[in-house]
Amino acid sequence: MKNNEHVLEDSIFNIGKVVSVDGRVVSIEVNKLKNTSHVLYKGDLLKNISVGGYVKIIKGFTKIIGKVKGEYISEDKKFSKKVYGNAKQKVHRILDVNLLGFFNGKQFERGIKELPLIDNECFLLKKEEFDQVHNFLRNSDDPIVIGRLAFEKGQAISLGVNSLFASHIGIFGNTGSGKSYTLAKMYRELFLKYKDNANFKKNAKFFFVDFNGEYAAADDVIIEKKYKNVYRLSTGREDGDKFPIQQELLYEPTFLALLTEATEKTQTPFLQRVVSNRYIADKLNSEEDFKTLLSDMIYSATSKDDRNLEKGVVVNLLEDLRSCLSGSQMNDLILDYKSKLQFHSAQGKYYYQPAGGGTKIFSDHETFKTSIVCDKVSATTFNVTALDVIDKIELRIILLYYDEIIKGYSNKDYLAPLIKRVKKKVNDLKKVVKISNEPNGGKNITILSLKDVNIHMRKILPMLLCKKLYDDKKEKNNDETYLNIIIDEAHNILSKNSERESEQWKDYRLETFEEIVKEGRKFGVFLTIASQRPSDISDTIISQLHNYFLHRLINNNDIMAVEKTISFLDKVSFDSLAILPTGTCILAGLIAQVPVVIDVSHMDKKYEPNNKTRPLTKYWQ
Ligand SMILES: Nc1ncnc2c1ncn2[C@@H]1O[C@H](COP(=O)(O)OP(=O)(O)OP(=O)(O)O)[C@@H](O)[C@H]1O
Ligand SMILES: [Mg+2]
Repeated sequence: MKNNEHVLEDSIFNIGKVVSVDGRVVSIEVNKLKNTSHVLYKGDLLKNISVGGYVKIIKGFTKIIGKVKGEYISEDKKFSKKVYGNAKQKVHRILDVNLLGFFNGKQFERGIKELPLIDNECFLLKKEEFDQVHNFLRNSDDPIVIGRLAFEKGQAISLGVNSLFASHIGIFGNTGSGKSYTLAKMYRELFLKYKDNANFKKNAKFFFVDFNGEYAAADDVIIEKKYKNVYRLSTGREDGDKFPIQQELLYEPTFLALLTEATEKTQTPFLQRVVSNRYIADKLNSEEDFKTLLSDMIYSATSKDDRNLEKGVVVNLLEDLRSCLSGSQMNDLILDYKSKLQFHSAQGKYYYQPAGGGTKIFSDHETFKTSIVCDKVSATTFNVTALDVIDKIELRIILLYYDEIIKGYSNKDYLAPLIKRVKKKVNDLKKVVKISNEPNGGKNITILSLKDVNIHMRKILPMLLCKKLYDDKKEKNNDETYLNIIIDEAHNILSKNSERESEQWKDYRLETFEEIVKEGRKFGVFLTIASQRPSDISDTIISQLHNYFLHRLINNNDIMAVEKTISFLDKVSFDSLAILPTGTCILAGLIAQVPVVIDVSHMDKKYEPNNKTRPLTKYWQ
């Protein structure tokens, strides 16, 4: 009985013999009887061998699996009636097959251990074998299903949570090809499985950077509202959400340098001095101390016989302070100094000209310091104690700037442009962040929408926050915690050829993301990026990704960008890249022993990222 079965299977599944072996490429001559599109086996209609299908080559006890990449016909030139009964028989159907892997017991493994020999018999795959080739689950991993095989019987593809989410993932495809949908689906399936586990909430952290507000447009995108923190930042409006950051982040010189677009040679070192200068920082804790500091600065500016010092420096200092010390009553003081504090060119000294033409009080006069500086400063209200941490940074920058100018340590020409920018940048920053040390309400999923954020903040904020998250995680470096940074429209920050950017910024970005992609795995930090332009993204990043979901890609540069790195993708799948329908993608990478074309399964409307293709005519009726 068993033997009969074998004979039957052999006769049905046998398709031909190996006729040539050339490295990974093998040619198989198909039996004349197997040139039909389907074969019937036990009442089932099985797809017969064709391009894109699999073959099993038996070499002794080894089962080698290959994928058909093409077929052609070869004709015997020396046709002789004696050997061939029929003219049809001089034509041979030859398959070009790429070897993919082999069966190790029941388990399919990718790679080549042995090459077939000429005349080895070739077979179609049985259902179990086909399933085994597409079984991407290893070592009792937890499965999630995000799609089905597009071409072969619609079989669901289970992916292992460990192998997928402990890897860097790239999702590429043209606009509208379904990247965001795939991304949302993948994370939705993951969250559905673990969302209510206390340990999942405690140990795993997901940080979505959403440049277009697609994941924040509706409450339940990806997962119900109650499971996630959504921050809709805005630099245009005052009432946008504010992302909590820790105070220390502000005091990082790199943070300040990026925020204020400081130049590398002079402005960045200046910001470093701002951060390390305790003397000024300590004077901001009480109004009395602040007044002492200010009096000293004003006196020092006016009593110096430095002709290089700008004449209006005192008034400029006060005006700059007024703009960052809201609620202070400084107008009288400013007016007073503006009209009465003069510089005597001949004597090279400051003097105070009291109203009504009284005697001039020169700065070297013994009463000058008390009556003209200290008393006047004392009589003024400076609202320093009400300042929050972000304002204080601005104040420290301004104070140190004037301090250095007055003392002649720094050149005004180099630093003045920075001071001009600081105000605007700090103001923008205040609209999008708040200082807070509170944990995020126990929710481990964060969505950061940058839709309404200006272009500068859009670039630096995600970068700074990701870097901070990564550094924190690296420092902790324990086994149980996990961080996943997910960036849709990643070309916004990872593009390699933007000319608007300074070198310093590029370095910083490279350090951050290239490090995450190279080293992150060791610390349990993983990156998922989606982009329309893989060719724009740094090669280092693309080549370090472990798994790829490739949607339709039309531009040749983009195709080449992924081609270089996905060497094991066979030609058939590769050629289909340009014609994949929306929602269909090629899954390739470490997780897939063989690259497969999958249809990403549907999810309920309310969980979809909101980025509908607009039906124009609907609005044009
Ligand atoms: N698997 C799918 N099933 C059903 N609809 C899908 C699927 N994938 C994508 N779509 C639909 O196709 C449209 C475009 O998809 P999506 O927004 O994900 O594309 P995208 O590649 O992210 O585009 P862009 O680059 O412009 O962000 C959406 O309306 C989405 O709902
Ligand atoms: Mg998208």
